[in-house]
Amino acid sequence: MNLFNSKSLTTEFFEQLYQENPDPWQFASSEYEAKKYTATLNALPRNLYNSGFEIGGSIGILTEKLARRCQSLLSIDVSEIAQSQAIDRCQHLTNIKFELMSVPQSFPTESFDLIVLSEVGYYWCWEDLRTAQSLILDRLRSQGHLLLVHWIADTGILPLTGHQVHDAFLELVPNQLKRIKSITAEKYRLDLFEKI
Ligand SMILES: C[S@@+](CC[C@H](N)C(=O)[O-])C[C@H]1O[C@@H](n2cnc3c(N)ncnc32)[C@H](O)[C@@H]1O
Repeated sequence: MNLFNSKSLTTEFFEQLYQENPDPWQFASSEYEAKKYTATLNALPRNLYNSGFEIGGSIGILTEKLARRCQSLLSIDVSEIAQSQAIDRCQHLTNIKFELMSVPQSFPTESFDLIVLSEVGYYWCWEDLRTAQSLILDRLRSQGHLLLVHWIADTGILPLTGHQVHDAFLELVPNQLKRIKSITAEKYRLDLFEKI
């Protein structure tokens, strides 16, 4: 039984979280996060992507790193408080577009050769995860990469676990996706897929 009654976590939930603490997961200072970001960037097979899409960019720590690997990067988040920090942090970079957006209720219309879903999928309920999956698949270009990274502890309080999110994408192998990298670390799982 989870605390959120099997519904996706709301914009208000995240806004309140960032109101109380501007960096609730210590993205800027945690050694664990820094190592995970290095593994995330190292997992990308291409040095440079044409067009990247980051879902749930938060305060922009990973965004700033991803922007070095993309000619253009769209970073979206539901939280205006978090995204305003990301905009400040990345103001020296001209290739990032920021938008406030709640996925999957909204989704960009353009296509991408890289989509990054890092530590976001377990906030969705099953229905939203399924909708997000089909939108991600639709907007990912052929031979484009989808990178998933999620914490794998089962707290019992979030709508989904990291494993459930990754396993749902594994179901799309081999007809729609090919899995080309998979790492299960002590606390997180990383999977890199290529669209067929
Ligand atoms: C744990 S943080 C992950 C930040 C970053 N991706 C990373 O790995 O460092 C999750 C972020 O996703 C955002 N988020 C949650 N649900 C979302 C949704 N439905 N659409 C877009 N962003 C969402 C939250 O506001 C929060 O900033």
